[in-house]
Amino acid sequence: NTIALVTGGFTGESYVSFKSAEVIEKNIDRDRFDVYTIVITRESWYHVDANAVKHPVDKNDFSIVLNDSVIRFDTVFIGLHGSPGEDGKLQGYFDMIGLPYTTCDALTSAITMNKGYTKAITEGIEDLHVARSLQLFSHNALSSESILAQLNLPLFIKPNNGGSSIGMSKVKTAEELPEALERAFHEDTQVLVEEFISGREFSIGVFNGKDGVQVLPATEIVTTREFFDFEAKYTPGATEEITPGRMTEEEKERVEAIVKAVYEKLNCRGVIRIDYFLEEGTRKFFFIEINTVPGQTETSFIPQQVRAAGRTIQDFYTELIEVSLE
Ligand code: DAL
Ligand code: MG
Repeated sequence: NTIALVTGGFTGESYVSFKSAEVIEKNIDRDRFDVYTIVITRESWYHVDANAVKHPVDKNDFSIVLNDSVIRFDTVFIGLHGSPGEDGKLQGYFDMIGLPYTTCDALTSAITMNKGYTKAITEGIEDLHVARSLQLFSHNALSSESILAQLNLPLFIKPNNGGSSIGMSKVKTAEELPEALERAFHEDTQVLVEEFISGREFSIGVFNGKDGVQVLPATEIVTTREFFDFEAKYTPGATEEITPGRMTEEEKERVEAIVKAVYEKLNCRGVIRIDYFLEEGTRKFFFIEINTVPGQTETSFIPQQVRAAGRTIQDFYTELIEVSLE
């Protein structure tokens, strides 16, 4: 089979996408698949060959021409975080031209890219809790005073459609709030303001494999920084990451049931990663968000979790590709 590995993107996360694509490319089984990396930017879509020559993609059918022959793809491995690879835009395009891909469909991708709408859908799931929050829109954003009248400090301020913590802040005093809002609105026209949950943070991979929906071992995140920000995420050694994370057997079973329910309720496909807190004291599961194109970089969680599950990354990617072709 011939695979297109899509990377690049329109956002600050394109840096991460290139790193993910490197790992994916290195680990795809070359005895079984021919793989061509396709870079998508706002300006152009292209494949770069071994001689650094760029070959444009024909947007009518997502094919490329190399050495006078047309290369068409059987499926697309999406390694592009943020827009347009994680928010449903490329998924909608691939649906239109009839090309399968490794991620959730257009609707699920679009919904889960929006942290506020995702919370609204997951909120009804048994045993799942969400932090109290407000969704702000730039055309009628609430004042700091009115936010503070409704929610308690500390607060997390997040661009609602963002990723990798870009534009995000933790606010501990009322004075910090206006600047944090400004930073988030600089990235997005929607901002999510959430109450802080005191507890331990985890992230867990879920995928539909050949044997149905499966859950990977969770990673526990212990950062010395104020929260798990961009630096903590992509600087090797900046965070202690424990896989499998420290949970009792009972907690593991509970979490597994909750994340499977989230995966199914949102009709997910491919590998996704769900971030959550276990609240201090109550041990309640607090849902943070879903990443439908989770990072595959050297420091990312999914590769760690696959290894902790006793599998090779190559074998895992083969399964994702094969399921996408079914
Ligand atoms: N948004 C980043 C890539 C992640 O979730 O891993
Ligand atoms: Mg994320």
